[in-house]
Amino acid sequence: MKALVLSGGKGTRLRPLTFTCAKQLIPVANKPILGYVLDQVASTGIKKVGIITAHETGQFVEDYVRDGIVWGFNVNYIPQEPLGLAHAVKTAKNFLGQDSFVMCLGDNVTGQGLEAFVKKFKTENLDALIILKEVDNPSAFGIAQLDAKGNIVRLVEKPKTPMGNLAIIGTYLFSNKIHQAIERIKPSWRGELEITDAIQEMINMGFSVKAEILNSWWLDTGKKDDILSANAKILDEYIERDVKGTVTNSTVDGRVKVAADSQIVNSTIRGPCVIGKNVLVENSFIGPYTSIGDGSKICSSNLEYCVVQDNVTIKDVERLEDSLIGKNTKVTRNQRNRTLKLHVGDFSELEV
Ligand code: DAU
Repeated sequence: MKALVLSGGKGTRLRPLTFTCAKQLIPVANKPILGYVLDQVASTGIKKVGIITAHETGQFVEDYVRDGIVWGFNVNYIPQEPLGLAHAVKTAKNFLGQDSFVMCLGDNVTGQGLEAFVKKFKTENLDALIILKEVDNPSAFGIAQLDAKGNIVRLVEKPKTPMGNLAIIGTYLFSNKIHQAIERIKPSWRGELEITDAIQEMINMGFSVKAEILNSWWLDTGKKDDILSANAKILDEYIERDVKGTVTNSTVDGRVKVAADSQIVNSTIRGPCVIGKNVLVENSFIGPYTSIGDGSKICSSNLEYCVVQDNVTIKDVERLEDSLIGKNTKVTRNQRNRTLKLHVGDFSELEV
């Protein structure tokens, strides 16, 4: 069995961060989302991994994954025009050959590994296994309708009038029969070859397609608030107390991780929280569910429920909440008057 990890796409909903980074590389708890996906693939024992990349951001993905040796992988990079998830499978056809494979979206994280799904797929000799989770906004996802016995009746991509609330999450398992189905489908109204249509086609062709309900959390980190939720979830699940940096005249409460060469001075840190390498936190409060990236400086400021990436300076900001701050950014208070002075990239969002 192989793995196909989708790290292409446009990332338009996460601009401006995606002008200088692939959306799958935005960090949660100071580690790129893609890293969690690759960890879960590695746990299955799969070694041959194809990574779909986009022209604009592919190099960032390659710089992070490199030869995949960290995960024990043999990696193939497969550049693709972002023309749909089924188009990505079509583009990877040479790499996939006749093998069955697990396909993961590089920006979807779950609290559950892949092993149980791989086992079910193999032991039941399936052609496709999709994983479902109840959602509140079914029009934003591929939706599956099941009968009373749990068999799939119908699949629709982003239905305007949803026929249920079971969303197809970003983990799919396929036999090589998927290629025959993809050959038979046409692009959707949004101009993409939809994987949902290909799976529906597999059902129509009489192949063995099953669905399983995910019994953990799942987050599709397509927008700012999803990144903040994923950050909170990962901090909650994985962060243990590990304070290695220098703590002077400060309180560090709960599950807080501080890297060895960082300094906490005259401050309070309340977990769950992660503070990266070479960070200075001075005269500040860092509240729960916050991640501070490497090389950042937080001075005389109060932060809560934030993702702050690398080399950020935040100074004299009374209260910063629910914020996602990109790399090399400066956020400071204008002390002299109440005028806002901004130097902001295209597609930024500011709430002042
Ligand atoms: O998150 C789950 C949803 O993912 C499913 O419920 C939908 O059925 C499925 O179509 C997909 O919907 P999205 O609209 O959220 O997909 P998105 O365009 O965000 O792409 C998902 C990932 O795949 C993302 O990491 C980018 C990558 N991708 C996307 C496209 C369209 C590619 O690598 N190539 C592509 O052509």
